[in-house]
Amino acid sequence: MRSHYCGLLRDSHIDEEVSLCGWVHRRRDHGGVIFLDVRDHNGIVQVVFDPDTVEAFALADQVRNEFVLNIRGKVRARDAAVVNAKMPTGQIEVLGQSVVILNSAETPPFQLDEHSEAGEDVRLRYRYIDLRRPEMQDRIRLRSKVTHFIRNYLDDDGYIDIETPILTKATPEGARDYLVPSRTHGGEFFALPQSPQLFKQLLMMSGFDKYYQIARCFRDEDLRADRQPEFTQIDIETTFLDETAIMGMAEDMIRTLFKTMISVDLGDKFPTITYADAMRKYGSDRPDMRFDLPFIDVADLMQSVEFKVFSAPANDPGSRVVALRLENGDRLSRKMIDGYTKYVSIYGAKGLAYIKVNDIDAGIEGLQSPILKFLPDQVVMDVMQRVGAKNKDIIFFAADKVNIVNDAFGALRTKLAEDLDLYERPWSALWVTEFPMFEGDGKGHWSAVHHPFTQPMGGLDDMLENPGAVLSRAYDMVINGHELGGGSIRVHNTDMQQTIFKVLNIEAEEAQAKFGFLLDALRYGAPPHGGLAFGLDRLVMILSGTNAIRDVMAFPKTQTAACLLTAAPSEVDATQLRELQLSVNKPTSK
Ligand code: AMO
Ligand code: AMP
Repeated sequence: MRSHYCGLLRDSHIDEEVSLCGWVHRRRDHGGVIFLDVRDHNGIVQVVFDPDTVEAFALADQVRNEFVLNIRGKVRARDAAVVNAKMPTGQIEVLGQSVVILNSAETPPFQLDEHSEAGEDVRLRYRYIDLRRPEMQDRIRLRSKVTHFIRNYLDDDGYIDIETPILTKATPEGARDYLVPSRTHGGEFFALPQSPQLFKQLLMMSGFDKYYQIARCFRDEDLRADRQPEFTQIDIETTFLDETAIMGMAEDMIRTLFKTMISVDLGDKFPTITYADAMRKYGSDRPDMRFDLPFIDVADLMQSVEFKVFSAPANDPGSRVVALRLENGDRLSRKMIDGYTKYVSIYGAKGLAYIKVNDIDAGIEGLQSPILKFLPDQVVMDVMQRVGAKNKDIIFFAADKVNIVNDAFGALRTKLAEDLDLYERPWSALWVTEFPMFEGDGKGHWSAVHHPFTQPMGGLDDMLENPGAVLSRAYDMVINGHELGGGSIRVHNTDMQQTIFKVLNIEAEEAQAKFGFLLDALRYGAPPHGGLAFGLDRLVMILSGTNAIRDVMAFPKTQTAACLLTAAPSEVDATQLRELQLSVNKPTSK
């Protein structure tokens, strides 16, 4: 039926007879001549029908957007005046000789060119139409190229692809599980995997040495622009390699991928920053280092000022007082500063103090701020010196509990960079290492920062004595402020694993019930092992320059974890529930 793809016709095809298949992208009637823009996945070509070809003209006159056609015609050069340099096929057009309407189409719920005016709900409900858009096609095709590249890369390095179960037992990665009721074991449930973590560790204990899987994962957690309830990991595990070797291999894979896919050079060796430094300097464990704008601690200078907003946190070990020096801050209007004050309040900040530097040589007289009257001149000048103040700077201050300051100023830092284009380089790839092993709630309850199978640094006693001080052998890869992947060296001995469960307040009995299979396996000759997993969706999102993960998934879910296309989740019939021995207590609607 088809001799050529629409989008691939060029002037080298002039005078050729072609048979094209595609969709009507647009139809224009120009006083007696009909133009159809015909689209396939390679692009769009213009087809012209003139009234001489009576039958074809009549059919072309009937067609509407998104009709599916087979057109026969002859390629010809466009008149110089109507050459369209913006279109790859813009040098030529096809003179239509015959048309077969393969299928008609109702008026689509949105025009492809006007998708941005259709709400995202409409686009998701009619996803098969949305996916016809060239930019969606490009992203989904890029995704396929990425997985193809990854498979080749890992295959070449001796990794083997092994599938692990989807119907399984809960794997603790910190989110809620999606549960699947079992019919054959009434009242019991499978959990969908949050990751293949434990299976890949078991495969190492089976001696497979190098494993990978492009693995589907399921997490019932609050959704954000870069999170979906169902997503895909590039999951990797190896034996007898330390973190330097694993990180080196993973880094080389990502570096080569960026070079191959988008001709971007991420640099020879990704810098490493410890978790503690990242939090101290950028308030985030996934700092965007395309720009600097570091936090500057000033608590020590504020301890004895009268201004309680600063002195109280300055004297509290659980708080921070931090300055952020923005060069050329004089470009911020009062209204913008008010906007940023509101922005940091989302993260719990109670205010956003600032000092504008008009003339640093004029001392206190050269500064302008509502808080100067609350602070001794000497303290203000010491702060100016600490931050390295220059004329036109604006210095922002945050004073609060450590996590509020980190969240609020971490977010302000990236917001300022976005709004004011503070980027010094287009790409920043780095590793974050030396994460804490445990995170406390202040009431003596500990949870694992990565997952409980991560190897801690130090011995068993350190963990039991002071869990909060123990670091782990975990590492995260961060690109442009996104956590792209993470992993660790794992625990491979029973005592260590049991001690971790103990710190996490998982009693021996519960540990046996939940992870007995792992504890058993560790007893039968488990080798040292480690690995990591990359978020494939996030990776493609970054490679394709979009900031919504939904844009790189063919059939994503909404912010409320629903599929608008198929209307899932949905109720099931009574017979199914009976078979599963389930009854439903449907919440009464609000
Ligand atoms: P982690 O939980 O850090 O580690 O996940 C690894 C990577 O998966 C991606 N990711 C997500 N992507 C989209 N939507 C989500 N909801 C989502 N959650 C995670 C991120 C993240 O960096 N088993 C460990 C890996 C290991 O230790 O080997 C794990 O799952 O890009
Ligand atoms: P107030 O005395 O509350 O009016 O605050 C004086 C200035 O300090 C205002 O500019 C506030 O925005 C700012 N401010 C108040 N609380 C904080 C805080 N926790 N951190 C930083 N600035 C604050």
